[in-house]
Amino acid sequence: MLGCEFTCTSTYRFFESLSNQLIFLYHLVVVTNQMLEIAIEAAVEAGRLLKINAGKVMHIDRKLGQETNLVTETDKKAEEIIIRKIKKRYPHHDFLAEESGGSEEKSEYKWIIDPLDGTTNFTHGLPIFCVSIGLEVKGEMTLGVVYDPNLDELFTVEKGKGAFLNKRRMIVSKTSKLIESLIVTGFPYDIRSRPETILTHFNNFLLEAQAVRRLGSAALDLCYVAAGRFDGFWESTLNPWDMAAGVLLLEEAGGLFTDFLGFPTTIYKKQVLATNRIIHDQMIAVLKKGMGKG
Ligand code: IPD
Ligand code: CA
Ligand code: CA
Repeated sequence: MLGCEFTCTSTYRFFESLSNQLIFLYHLVVVTNQMLEIAIEAAVEAGRLLKINAGKVMHIDRKLGQETNLVTETDKKAEEIIIRKIKKRYPHHDFLAEESGGSEEKSEYKWIIDPLDGTTNFTHGLPIFCVSIGLEVKGEMTLGVVYDPNLDELFTVEKGKGAFLNKRRMIVSKTSKLIESLIVTGFPYDIRSRPETILTHFNNFLLEAQAVRRLGSAALDLCYVAAGRFDGFWESTLNPWDMAAGVLLLEEAGGLFTDFLGFPTTIYKKQVLATNRIIHDQMIAVLKKGMGKG
């Protein structure tokens, strides 16, 4: 009798754990895949709107009292398109979006959205901007999409399944020396309040790397490191929506994301050092020198 109880309980446990695993696998394969599809549709639709309106801005507002921190009606419209599309399918999910802020559904799912990354370029009609959408599940970045409507480049990623550019797998570069590296940075909107630190790093990298670029879209900077076009990227003041999708793309392409001193970080902290992994320590050494720690 005791033997049967033991066998029945362990059989029950076996099937219970099997069914949990199957639910988990179903979620991983089917549900996240459907979510990625929705994110792609939203990013492409918003991206088309950006492309049509680039350089034709009628009204520009300034954010946070900063003369150079721009927001246009297209930033807001693109964000509405994305949120409407996702909400229609997932009405109880949470959102953290640049223009409309955060929601309070207390969901395990949080969509992190930058509807237009590269607004300054966009207002001047310079075709370097994109849409970025990332999804956090229980606090962990799980999937992401970055869409560049000008080059029709779609960067997609699901955790554990690799990073792709127009469905082709991406891998970071193999450049091993900083002097042979093409690196990129961005200048935060509050640069005027502390120009020295930012310009010191910029000067130092100009002298140590092969060349330094500044595109004006942090999400694309991260995607380009993931794609091996850049070997490294640093910036001192970013927001979660600038980085959400890009950081997962970078990591799934084999890259490394830390703070300036090489410590693990998150998209909720401001500093980002993102590289092909190989030149990471060399970039940290230059950043430390700029911070007087070298
Ligand atoms: C900006 C861009 C830029 C970076 C700024 C960001 P926005 O985002 O990503 O490259 O240097 O720090 O705020 O305002 O164009 O969405
Ligand atoms: Ca941005
Ligand atoms: Ca933006």
